Amino acid sequence: MKSITVHKKKCLKGEFYPPGDKSISHRTIMLGSIADGKTHLTNFCSGEDTLRTVQAFQSLGIKIERNGTEHTVWGKGLNGLQEPQNIIDAGNSGTTVRLITGLLSGQNFFSAITGDASLRSRPMKRITDPMRAMGAKIDGRGDGNFVPLSIRGGALSPIQYQLPVASAQVKSAILLGGLYADGITEITEPVPSRDHTERMLSSMGATIEREKTTVRIKGSPHLKPFSFRIPGDISSAAFLIVGAILLPGSHIVIRKVGVNLLRTGILEILKQMGANIEVINPEEECGELTADVVVKSSSLKGVNITGDIIPRTIDEIPVVAVAAAHAEGTTIIRNAKELRVKETDRIAAVVKGLKKFGVKVEELSDGMAITGQKELKGASVFSYGDHRIAMAFIIAGLTASEETTVVDTEPIETSFPQFMESLDSLLE
Ligand code: S3P
Repeated sequence: MKSITVHKKKCLKGEFYPPGDKSISHRTIMLGSIADGKTHLTNFCSGEDTLRTVQAFQSLGIKIERNGTEHTVWGKGLNGLQEPQNIIDAGNSGTTVRLITGLLSGQNFFSAITGDASLRSRPMKRITDPMRAMGAKIDGRGDGNFVPLSIRGGALSPIQYQLPVASAQVKSAILLGGLYADGITEITEPVPSRDHTERMLSSMGATIEREKTTVRIKGSPHLKPFSFRIPGDISSAAFLIVGAILLPGSHIVIRKVGVNLLRTGILEILKQMGANIEVINPEEECGELTADVVVKSSSLKGVNITGDIIPRTIDEIPVVAVAAAHAEGTTIIRNAKELRVKETDRIAAVVKGLKKFGVKVEELSDGMAITGQKELKGASVFSYGDHRIAMAFIIAGLTASEETTVVDTEPIETSFPQFMESLDSLLE
């Protein structure tokens, strides 16, 4: 098992272009594959998760050419996918399995999909329930709650669906199914989640209507191919942002990072905690906003993190917890039960790890309470096979008084393979 050992560091300085956004990268392949013609992508996320999506669509008969972070997808239109010869393996990627299940539900063929041990334990009923309601025949362990799933798709019926939890993956799966439904499919979320699928579909010419937390899509569109520089991933940049805030004397500029408002909860929270963060040079491409984010080291104070902001920062909570461990006072994170069904139980993993760093932290059923302190002690901590836990603890290790070892760091490859290299290039 791979481990990474880090020591206390002075500061982070310089500028950095983050790798392409993982959520957006998955969607460009899926939607590019069913567009009418050639889609050209640059700054594609080079993690293993997005590679799983590329391989899945190759197995569905789509030609995808890869040249570093430049990808070309030869879309075959809404009905151009072919029955795969083998079981699709989504690896560790929840986004691959959940979104693709929506799309496969509308295909007139048989398919099956599975994943690694972590993915095999994550809940899928949230996807299989609505797709079955639309008419797809899906089976799987636990009455379709766990992969492997088998899918026999076909023409779907539109539904009106109320999501029990805010989830962009579930919303997107239903939207992708809705492309194959005869009529208007309507989805309502309790709280808004990331809207990359809606934005991309709309810029490709689909009829999408949005009203507060409801989105409607009309079936059978012709989707235009596109050319797109994928925005930098704010979820990857988040680790460097928190590192720069915590290490005194730091000053970094993160260039061309995605600042879609449904992803920038991390910036709002850190600013509220007292962080010196500035967002400059906004630009828009394919309906997505990017900007440069300037971060300087700052002293933080504890805050309450709850409610609508949770889905807008769901993947950044492990690293927010590391920031909170250095803030004056207590930070309380609530309404974040979804963290328990991510790549690992992120509430339990963060609480166990922070305790090893000597932090006073209490586990709550739907979050945690963290009391900040001046300095962390060195620790040996485990990632629990989760990329974001591994990277959050590496950042914590840069601030700790003694050596820190993070065990099982291989999963960093799933989203941000260049993480250590990027960090080293900025560390002084
Ligand atoms: C994602 C949505 C979120 C997020 C995940 C990526 C997406 O999951 O945690 O990393 O690309 O749609 P949920 O939809 O389950 O909240």
